[in-house]
Amino acid sequence: MERAYTQTVQKVTAIAPEIGAAFPQAVDTATGLYNREKPRYWTAGFWGGLLWLAYRENGEHRLFELACEIEERLDAPLNEFIRLHHDVGFMWLPTAVEHFLATGCPASRIRGLKAASLLASRFNLAGRFIRAWETRENCEGWAIIDCLMNLSLLYWASKAAGDPRFRQIACAHADTVLEHFVRADATVPHIIGFDPETGKRVGVMPGQGKALDSVWARGQAWAIYGFALSYRETGRLPYQQAAARIADRFFENLPEDKIPYWDFCASGGEREARDASAACIAASGMLELASGGLERFAGYARRILESLDKNYACYDHTSQGIIRGSTGNYTAGKWINTSLIYGDFFYLEALGKLLGKPGIF
Ligand code: GLY
Repeated sequence: MERAYTQTVQKVTAIAPEIGAAFPQAVDTATGLYNREKPRYWTAGFWGGLLWLAYRENGEHRLFELACEIEERLDAPLNEFIRLHHDVGFMWLPTAVEHFLATGCPASRIRGLKAASLLASRFNLAGRFIRAWETRENCEGWAIIDCLMNLSLLYWASKAAGDPRFRQIACAHADTVLEHFVRADATVPHIIGFDPETGKRVGVMPGQGKALDSVWARGQAWAIYGFALSYRETGRLPYQQAAARIADRFFENLPEDKIPYWDFCASGGEREARDASAACIAASGMLELASGGLERFAGYARRILESLDKNYACYDHTSQGIIRGSTGNYTAGKWINTSLIYGDFFYLEALGKLLGKPGIF
């Protein structure tokens, strides 16, 4: 996969001047160009993360400068504060925290700690979960599977601040997800609602999956990677076991080309929408599991990445996207079978891990 890795780094480097210090999220398939999202949107960290991954490899100073500009532009939502959400890990881990770890930049450390403090402040003591959003009515008690990925920011903050509180909150949330999200068949729903006063589980809420009891592909991928990260940071076996069971189930149920439909329960015409981004996330998560000692998952990840390289990757300039066939939100009819910035990010992160390079999450 060395060639795929090199071509991906080259493509990021080539499109960097076109995209600039912006927040691309989805490719318009008619033009092949990435759109521009607001800096407060949950995907705002991934272009910066791609620039960092490419910069690690080739040391091109322009990539570093753009990543720093993006990090500074993210100060607007961080200072505005009020419209942020739990996805601050996705936003500040691949930008400020990566910058701090690479250079020791004090301002980047402060940004990372501010984002972690915001995330910690969303913890509901009665239900022991981190609240997802405030953008919907009556969602004070909603927790979502994606949040497992944001816990890495809390684990980092505990180390950076020398304070166990961030890690304790991360573990409490991960334990709640283990108890209330993971089904007997090793699948997970997108959203669980809790009573925000008593903390009692209310039930599964409609989210991005096809149905309350269906198996939303990106959610499974977040669960694999998220539990693998909590295992890496704590050494607690139940997290590793959950990640492995969900990963086995994910891999067993993939279609022949190893790229999932947007929901494993999709049928008929719904199967025209793949979610290659979920494949990229799952592959990177499986490689995390492999580096924690479960080596068989490296083989699964390799097979997924080989298919992405052969059937979904675009290394030329017909599109600014790298991985085609990702679906952002099928139930809302948005971003179907296109390139999504997090698919591209986790593809490069996973390829790097396969070659022995460290990831970002
Ligand atoms: N919040 C992350 C996602 O939509 O997958």
